Amino acid sequence: MTRVLYPGSFDPVHNGHIEIIETASTLFDEVVVAAMINTGKDGIFDLDDREEMLNEAVAHLPNVSVRMFSGLTVDLATEVGADFIVKGLRAVSDFENELQMAQMNNAASGIHTLFIPSASRSSFLASKFIRDFARFGGDISNMVPPAVARKLKERYG
Ligand code: PNS
Repeated sequence: MTRVLYPGSFDPVHNGHIEIIETASTLFDEVVVAAMINTGKDGIFDLDDREEMLNEAVAHLPNVSVRMFSGLTVDLATEVGADFIVKGLRAVSDFENELQMAQMNNAASGIHTLFIPSASRSSFLASKFIRDFARFGGDISNMVPPAVARKLKERYG
C-alpha cells in the first residue's frame, strides 16, 4: 500500500490542484492532502477555511483525505506515514523552487518527492491570480471548485 502526502498552500485550491489530486488518487492507494503555511506567500484564507474548501472539493475521491498542518512538511509526512511527497509542476518556472524543496526535504528526512506534470489546460492556474480576479470582480467560477467560488463570493461580493 502506497500513501502519499500532497502539501500546498491551497489558498485557495483551484482546478489545477484538483487535477493533480485526481491523478495522484489513481496512481497511489492513499493521498493525504495538507493545507500548510508557505512563509513566502501572503494569502487570504486561514488554514481552517482552506481545509474546509479542500474537503468539499475532494469529497468524490474515496482514497483522499484532507489535513491542515502548521509545521514542517517532513514532520507531517512522518506523522501520516507517507511513502512519498507529491507536488504538481506547471512549468519550468516552478521547477527550481520545487527541486530545492524536494532536496531539502530529502536531506532532512530521506523522503523523496514525486512530481506530477499539470495538463496544459490548467498550467496557467495560480491561486494568486484567482485571488486577484475574485477581488476585482472577475469571473473565476470555471477555474475553481464550487466551494471556493462560494467562499470567494462571500468575501468579495
Ligand atoms: O502550494 P505551495 O505554496 O507551493 O506549497 C509550499 C509548501 C506549503 C508545501 C511549503 O512552503 C512547505 O512545505 N511549507 C511547510 C513548512 C516547511 O516544511 N518548509 C520547508 C520547505 S523545504
